[in-house]
Amino acid sequence: MTTTLIVLAHPERRSFTGAWAEATARACAEAGDEVIWSDLGQIGFDPAERADHYRGISPTDRFDPLKVQEDAAENCALPDDVSEEIRKIRAADRVIFHFPIWWFAPPAVLKGWFDRVLAHGALHSVDERFDTGMCRGKSALFCVTTGSKATESAFNGKEGDIRLLLWPAAYTLRYLGFSVYVPEVIHGVHGYHTGAELAEMEQRLKAALDGQSKLVAGLKTREQMRFNSNTDFDAEGRLRPDRPSHSPFIRHGE
Ligand SMILES: Cc1cc2nc3c(=O)[nH]c(=O)nc-3n(C[C@H](O)[C@H](O)[C@H](O)COP(=O)(O)O)c2cc1C
Repeated sequence: MTTTLIVLAHPERRSFTGAWAEATARACAEAGDEVIWSDLGQIGFDPAERADHYRGISPTDRFDPLKVQEDAAENCALPDDVSEEIRKIRAADRVIFHFPIWWFAPPAVLKGWFDRVLAHGALHSVDERFDTGMCRGKSALFCVTTGSKATESAFNGKEGDIRLLLWPAAYTLRYLGFSVYVPEVIHGVHGYHTGAELAEMEQRLKAALDGQSKLVAGLKTREQMRFNSNTDFDAEGRLRPDRPSHSPFIRHGE
């Protein structure tokens, strides 16, 4: 049986993003998956990594987050909320993230979930990352809404190429060893449409919710984002001239 973790990074469950996440949960359940939720708004997830999450750290100690995470992971002393999220990730075969684009990036609560939950020593180590990541065999999908139109989020759009805006989050998961599907993005989602535009948006959003079972069923064959393998880089971490560039983030030449 497949276990799917749904991570919802939106403060309002009754938003379209929330409804879309619920459609994913229904689709996964219909397919016989076990579904686990992390509704970050509902659990009040605190996204700010800092010393006072950890027991035994004195306020006068210099806080070194990576070392503190590693030490806590080794000693089963990670914060309870972080341990619970790590337990869910370990249990999951795939993670489906639902979030809107806020200021050209995922909402801060999701970045903070990455900062705190993807703890050094627990979900990655120096020897276990990228090709040898601890989450090898797991997959991830981003289901994303934008307020901007599809044309504005395209490679030449004034809101910036959505594939690039999502690349750092995708690479975070790749760092852990996840396979990452090409994101599913619904554009032009906002509360300012009126008249025919509103009717058109409502129709589109309803169709997306109705089509989520098909999307989930199609994950087995969905295209995955391509990333360089460890051997594509030289000893200094530079992309070898004869290896492909899969993204402007890692490319040949300035
Ligand atoms: C703080 C904030 C920042 C936003 N920044 C962007 C942005 O950079 N690009 C964009 O296309 N839409 C942006 N939006 C619009 C949201 O993406 C849009 O409202 C959301 O996707 C709608 O989904 P929802 O109804 O589930 O909230 C922003 C909205 C908020 C609240």
